[in-house]
Amino acid sequence: MRRVEDKIALVTGAARGIGLAIAKLLASEGATVILSDINDVLGEKSARDVAGNSEYRHLDVAVEAEWQALADDIEQKYGHLDIVINNAGITGFLETSGPHDPENLDMASWHKVHATNLEGVALGCKYAIKLMKASARASIVNISSRSGLVGIPAAVAYASSKAAVRNHSKSVALYCAEKGYPIRCNSIHPGAILTPMWDAMIGEGPQREAAIKAIAADVPLKVMGTPDDVAYAALYLASDESKYVTGIELNIDGGILAGSVAAPSK
Ligand SMILES: NC(=O)c1ccc[n+]([C@@H]2O[C@H](COP(=O)([O-])OP(=O)(O)OC[C@H]3O[C@@H](n4cnc5c(N)ncnc54)[C@H](O)[C@@H]3O)[C@@H](O)[C@H]2O)c1
Repeated sequence: MRRVEDKIALVTGAARGIGLAIAKLLASEGATVILSDINDVLGEKSARDVAGNSEYRHLDVAVEAEWQALADDIEQKYGHLDIVINNAGITGFLETSGPHDPENLDMASWHKVHATNLEGVALGCKYAIKLMKASARASIVNISSRSGLVGIPAAVAYASSKAAVRNHSKSVALYCAEKGYPIRCNSIHPGAILTPMWDAMIGEGPQREAAIKAIAADVPLKVMGTPDDVAYAALYLASDESKYVTGIELNIDGGILAGSVAAPSK
């Protein structure tokens, strides 16, 4: 028996990076995985690379009408959901004009980051709850960040949105418990995981390796993490192995939050 055998899972922002690693691991452990993203070309390709049962569906997590349409389709096709990984997120460095420091911040950029990172997760939880009541045992996993627990002077919208995700996850966990729903909700807090999200910060070419080394030097374990490091945490929280776990925050950060004040901009 694999760890999430026969469960139906939805992963947002699954075209690449951490979301794709989670989708691949869930599928390899027996789940049917719906990968979703706004990057449809890459998303379709990534879904084909997933060994196991999977399909790709377009979903902009910030748009409620798209959640409603996908939820209707999932209900019709599968009847319910067992696992939702609310993973899609942006720093805003590439997607908005900024600036992102607290003194000069651009409010349109602030709103765009919150619409994706926070409202996207709130909508993900809303539609997950609707689809999970018919599950025997369901789990929502929200991908927050180390930046949801400590401040980031150069990325205040990102840090604020991720802090709100941390708190919202606990409200959802308690709400579902109070209602007697078979739904748990937890947050994961990655830090310094090498994915395409870092490209805007570490650049290309010869300086890339030096930049990665500099970031790793500030991590207590002295390496950047991999998407699989986060995927294994998501697998645990998604599976019934964590059936007594709700409302927790799980740090996957090489020890950064144990006390170091390393910041990505260093
Ligand atoms: N990489 C890290 O070090 C790190 C650290 C802390 C938290 N995180 C969080 O982990 C999650 C995944 O990050 P990653 O590093 O894999 O990033 P990534 O940029 O490599 O991948 C993010 C994916 O989300 C998709 N996306 C962006 N906006 C979307 C939207 N509105 N709707 C649907 N999909 C959308 C992108 O197309 C992309 O495929 C994010 O929430 C991020 O904030 C990452």
